Amino acid sequence: MSAPALRKILVTNALPYANGPLHLGHMVGYIQADIWVRFQRMCGNDVTYVCADDAHGTPIMLAAEKAGVAPETFIAGMQASHAADFAAFGVAFDHYHSTHSDENRRLSESIYSKLKAGGYIASRSIEQAYDPVKEMFLPDRYIKGECPKCGTKDQYGDNCESCGATYGPTDLKNPFSVVSGATPVLKESEHYFFQLTKLQQEVEQWLEAANVHASVKAKLAEWLDSGLKDWDISRDAPYFGFEIPGAPGKYFYVWLDAPIGYFASLSALLGNDAEKLAAFIGPNSTAELWHFIGKDIINFHGLFWPAMLKGAGHRQPTGLSVNGYLTVNGAKMSKSRGTFIKARTFLDAGLNPEYLRYYFATKLIEGPIDIDLDLKGFEDTINSHLVGKYVNIASRCARLLHEHFGGRLSDSLGKASPSIVVRATPQGDLDVIRECLETGNLSGLVRHAMFIADECNETLHAYAPWTRLKNPDERLPNSESHQNLSAAINAFRLISIYLKPVLPKLVSDVEAFLGVTPFVWNDADTPLVAHNINVY
Ligand code: MSP
Ligand code: ZN
Repeated sequence: MSAPALRKILVTNALPYANGPLHLGHMVGYIQADIWVRFQRMCGNDVTYVCADDAHGTPIMLAAEKAGVAPETFIAGMQASHAADFAAFGVAFDHYHSTHSDENRRLSESIYSKLKAGGYIASRSIEQAYDPVKEMFLPDRYIKGECPKCGTKDQYGDNCESCGATYGPTDLKNPFSVVSGATPVLKESEHYFFQLTKLQQEVEQWLEAANVHASVKAKLAEWLDSGLKDWDISRDAPYFGFEIPGAPGKYFYVWLDAPIGYFASLSALLGNDAEKLAAFIGPNSTAELWHFIGKDIINFHGLFWPAMLKGAGHRQPTGLSVNGYLTVNGAKMSKSRGTFIKARTFLDAGLNPEYLRYYFATKLIEGPIDIDLDLKGFEDTINSHLVGKYVNIASRCARLLHEHFGGRLSDSLGKASPSIVVRATPQGDLDVIRECLETGNLSGLVRHAMFIADECNETLHAYAPWTRLKNPDERLPNSESHQNLSAAINAFRLISIYLKPVLPKLVSDVEAFLGVTPFVWNDADTPLVAHNINVY
């Protein structure tokens, strides 16, 4: 069989907003993507993995103001905090950039001007709520008032928390600006629109061929079926973002330049080399482009972004990998219930971040499902799987191998019990497990790995090499006991190869223990024999 051609892949993760620290919910999508990246690299594929802070928009502008610092200072602090959290959870981007960067300004201006030249940008005047005191237009979430139906005070302009009625912000009674308390007035201004309508067919074609989970495809198709509408891509000053070329006082809406931030981060990583960049983002790029995102932002990535790329003459994404939402103890994370857990809080509690990676893996399947972090279940899973089943194999076998065989594995596994050997060599499992990792069915991967561990532990228990080794013949090199212990170490090694994308640090310790070079995927094909291992 000839080796499959290596893939050149660009992987991105949704850019977290620079308006607050990361919480454990955020970590789901980043950990999932990082696992995929590590797996692809183990297979020999050429992966570039980038991310950045999403630094623009009204909430960040106001948060900086509240903190009494310039937005540039505010976002720099956030970026550092996010980068540190990602590193701590083993999420290893090749580059972590910011959308408030020269690269992103250049690329956003370029894409916008191509869309404009292509006839995809229109402008017209619209009426919007305006805060006459703060002198700014108000996004919907900055307007509150009384429910038009039941009169409950302090409700947002979309629905009532008390009676459940849904309505628009202009329906609120006695509306007020959350920023200044002033009564909003309606005011006209000129806005720019990206005419998605003109690219509807192109988006449909893209979606048909794209690698997107069926449930996400169905949702996107629903929106497409009801017809794309023009998208408002401008905001008036004051706004923290990029001013639109040729339109003083008008800024790109944060969601216009945010996905372009993927390319900006890549460009910075490539030293802004135009040719290298084009190999990824140019119309003839043969590289794959995968976006890992949460389920709340599929419209941006599955409709607007492919349209922007098409309209501006870039390549389109190969696929979207979409994660669901994290709940804690069965409920939405909530500050008042104490279940809003910051990534940093988890780390400060001294918990091992790899355990969270593993726990998420036990829950994730192909496609965007919500997952629950049940704190008791978390502890039980880690103790039972990692300590009880997996590590246990190595600790008991390594001790006996050192005690009786100088830490050397037998020359072959031919005399070992078939039920250990079958678990020490992949025998067709490899394709199943590769598929689990490829499609994001990480719970399938973990189940398989733990099945190997269970079988191995049971066989060891029944065979009881510790008893048999009382017989001097069994203490001779390549005896049945020696080969069984060696086969068990090989089963442990195989589980380690499979779990390496999930538990990179733990498995790098395993590599050191086994005295082997860093595992690659194909290592699973050949058992480790006639080899000295270290003390566990
Ligand atoms: N800035 C935008 C993304 C721009 S991408 C060009 C954004 N930022 S975010 O900070 O709100 O979210 C970052 C990622 O975390 C998104 O993929 C989002 O879906 C995900 N999550 C946010 N809260 C989450 C949970 N509670 N659970 C799982 N994922 C969550 O959206
Ligand atoms: Zn109401």
